[in-house]
Amino acid sequence: MTAQIINGKAIADSMLNQILLRVKTRLDQGKRAPALAVILIGNDPASSIYVRNKRLACEKVGIRSIVYELPASTSEAELLTMINGLNADDAIDGILVQSPLPPQIDEKLVIEHISAAKDVDGFHPYNIGRLTVRQPTLRSCTPFGVIKMLQATGIELMGLDAVVIGVSNHVGRPMALELLLAGCTVTCCHRHTKDLQANVERADLLVVAAGKAGLVKGEWIKPGGVVIDIGINRLANGSLCGDVDFATAKERAGWITPVPGGVGPMTIATLMENTLLALELRET
Ligand code: GUN
Repeated sequence: MTAQIINGKAIADSMLNQILLRVKTRLDQGKRAPALAVILIGNDPASSIYVRNKRLACEKVGIRSIVYELPASTSEAELLTMINGLNADDAIDGILVQSPLPPQIDEKLVIEHISAAKDVDGFHPYNIGRLTVRQPTLRSCTPFGVIKMLQATGIELMGLDAVVIGVSNHVGRPMALELLLAGCTVTCCHRHTKDLQANVERADLLVVAAGKAGLVKGEWIKPGGVVIDIGINRLANGSLCGDVDFATAKERAGWITPVPGGVGPMTIATLMENTLLALELRET
């Protein structure tokens, strides 16, 4: 079997078009455009590229973006003061502090300091809690993006045996909660999992977010299964790859996401959706 490739870029573009239409309708009704504040601290090249892509996506859909570029020496107190100002600013709907942060700043503290109503990353414990109790509001962008991608592909999730590899706060854990909400039977694998291969082999749906190139061998994939690869790893030759051995996995899977062009664009499209939703929720 050769897998069907899930084109995340195309699905994300169609989401962005829908968001643009919703923003245009707002403007036609005399309402204002949504606004996203992005804080970038330091000079991490990957972060600069991510932030640029977020700004470009905002431009595409008519969301106002304000990017604050702060020096790597910024203190935690300075950042929290800035967040206080953005929390109180009625013209700002979403606040995103790009990670990783410099070592003097406690990321957990920063996440909890952002108003849950403006937490468009969906990282705040309140928003994770809402997802846990099946009342999601602002949902973590990558996991929610994966769900939207699976829905757009027409894959029925109810009852699937889903295996998630990686249990990070931002991706793996909320991914497991999303799949549970969608009716999957979910197994979470991590560095202490006794037999990763055995878990992968019985997965109708495999979602990998470990950040380790070559972690999942193609021969482990259940024939006809769905493979979602969230990993983004840069190889020595400069090229990008996921956590799954794509060339061999695509010969067994029924559906598979490429890296790049799979989950990545969905994360950004979901951030745009969350920013518009944050505004809509604050208006009600
Ligand atoms: N760094 C890498 N990805 C992300 C993301 O989705 N949100 C934030 N805030 N930082 C990131």
